[in-house]
Amino acid sequence: MMYPIEIKNLYYRHKGKDINLLKDINFKVNTKEILAIVGLSGCGKSTLCYCLSGVIPHVYKGSFNGEVLINGKKTTNMKLSNISTRVGIVFQNPDMQLFMPTVEDEIAFGPENLCLSKERISKRIDYALEKVGMKKHRYSNPNNLSGGEKQLIALASVLSLKPRVIIFDETMAQIDDKGKKRIKSVIKGLKEEGKSVIMVEHDLENLDIADRVLHLHDGKLKKFSGKL
Ligand SMILES: Nc1ncnc2c1ncn2[C@@H]1O[C@H](COP(=O)(O)OP(=O)(O)OP(=O)(O)O)[C@@H](O)[C@H]1O
Ligand SMILES: [Mg+2]
Repeated sequence: MMYPIEIKNLYYRHKGKDINLLKDINFKVNTKEILAIVGLSGCGKSTLCYCLSGVIPHVYKGSFNGEVLINGKKTTNMKLSNISTRVGIVFQNPDMQLFMPTVEDEIAFGPENLCLSKERISKRIDYALEKVGMKKHRYSNPNNLSGGEKQLIALASVLSLKPRVIIFDETMAQIDDKGKKRIKSVIKGLKEEGKSVIMVEHDLENLDIADRVLHLHDGKLKKFSGKL
């Protein structure tokens, strides 16, 4: 069986470090599944996200061993631009992801780089804004939105590439309860649509929407016992 994303015997060591941060990581995610990964600060969660989204080994050049398979294809054999239409990532700080003057421009940026027609780009913007419930903000400046709304736009800019796998790297860490509720409901909607979601968290309160929880500890990924 082919999974949207599957990780086999993954090891990673950052450049200049002498021990592996990730040691023999193995897991796969199904369609229509929300997998949560928890772990203490500095345990390697973001590094793992970079491995899943192709940033490692394409941008960061530490020591990478093992396989990350996207629909059965190794990320080492794919271009980063190709990976990003299959695996999207939303970061903790939306300001890292938002840089255009309007929401519309922000969301159009990815599809424009794919050289899609104007009509198709417009459809992608409609789809992405609808999905995150931010249609009325199409012409707003992202800087004027709340933290939670910024995250929804960062997510929309990822969704406009129509990835089947979406990674949330502590996306809810800096937003208020109302914003969290909205993001969680959007994540559940993505699951219903058939996407695979990987959410990295260190706030256990956000795990209520997860189908499965794994714990990254000492470089290894294990079933979560309920305690960090
Ligand atoms: N580019 C890099 N080069 C060298 N070391 C790095 C690099 N990026 C991260 N590290 C180190 O790897 C370890 C894990 O970092 P990482 O950001 O993956 O952890 P994290 O679990 O996401 O932490 P947090 O919960 O604070 O976001 C840290 O010790 C960090 O200093
Ligand atoms: Mg992190």
